Amino acid sequence: MADLRTRYLGFDLRTPLVASAGPLTGRLDTLLRLEDAGIGAVVLPSLFEEELVSESLQLHDVLEYGTEQFGEALSYLPDPGFYDIGPERHANLVEGAKARLSVPVIASVNATSPEAFARYASILTDAGADAVELNLYAVPANPDVGSESVEAGYLEAIRHVRAAVTVPVAAKLSPFFSSTGHFARRAVEAGADGLVLFNRFYQPDLDLESLDALTIVELSHPFELRLPLRWIAILRSRLPDVSLAASSGVHDGLAAVKALLVGADVTMMTSALLRNGPEHVGTVESVLDSWLDAHDYESVDQLRGSFSQSAAPDPSTFERANYLRVLSSFHLPLDDPEEEALMADPVTTAGPVHAGHQGAGR
Ligand SMILES: Cc1cc2nc3c(=O)[nH]c(=O)nc-3n(C[C@H](O)[C@H](O)[C@H](O)COP(=O)(O)O)c2cc1C
Repeated sequence: MADLRTRYLGFDLRTPLVASAGPLTGRLDTLLRLEDAGIGAVVLPSLFEEELVSESLQLHDVLEYGTEQFGEALSYLPDPGFYDIGPERHANLVEGAKARLSVPVIASVNATSPEAFARYASILTDAGADAVELNLYAVPANPDVGSESVEAGYLEAIRHVRAAVTVPVAAKLSPFFSSTGHFARRAVEAGADGLVLFNRFYQPDLDLESLDALTIVELSHPFELRLPLRWIAILRSRLPDVSLAASSGVHDGLAAVKALLVGADVTMMTSALLRNGPEHVGTVESVLDSWLDAHDYESVDQLRGSFSQSAAPDPSTFERANYLRVLSSFHLPLDDPEEEALMADPVTTAGPVHAGHQGAGR
């Protein structure tokens, strides 16, 4: 068995598998099942400022709808009431989790002002949270507000929380920045000990019969891992001292391997655990372990970052230079069975980019 230990936000974890904020981390019974299944750490659901909950996110509706949509999730999705519970019950959840779990318990906050971020973070760390994750989720819809001022608000929130608490602070980012790397560096300078890449936005759809907006939580798909993969690969060597968590699209053990290869310290899961139940953690761990074994890696430490951008044989794979090559590799089927067979294959860059990268002893 390979050594799966990793370090995240200064904590020694037994595995790099972490449960990200979501319904399963909002109840003690499912938190205990996650720990029994071998989870390395848990992030509790965000404490949202009340007006966000009631006016914008409408998580009650969203979650109830989600339960009907995903039959397989029925047994895992708890009553959504916990999303509208205010600081007190969040603090109780932190206390309960700390009393019953031995893995690190990370609390999460989503607020609309730096002061509120700091206030809620303090409530949760006073309740015993080992670390705080700032869920920097906003939809900057006002055309009069520029990106500089949106980013300044996020950075101010990080600074306020950093000054208010003594525990490690992680910032969970959206993928929508004009210069993701620049914002990531500034978030670290503002006091973030870790970056979670990335949060997912819930996009409303339209019901064409009722002409209503549909706010449905879509669970993620495995291809969504590509976005965190790229950015973790790019940022790993540029921000060597910050903890990096991959979030979005980690559904199985091989996805976890990829995230670790590009430099993630931990890989987070919500959708896969909702689809398959908390015990899925064990399956993911055993696939990760078997892969390490089969490829002669002794530990997660040895694996981590060995395919980050600075270590990759072709660093342009992660940047624009590869764009044209990828587009050119797409073939139209021209009534030619061979061409059609090509279409059946996923589009890949020309040639194996990981040639010669067969294992630890390469
Ligand atoms: C039903 C549901 C509830 C969620 N609640 C939160 C939350 O409270 N705070 C947060 O930061 N992210 C929340 N998320 C986002 C997840 O933590 C995660 O970042 C996202 O789902 C992408 O990861 P995945 O591909 O593993 O699902 C939620 C996701 C789902 C599906």
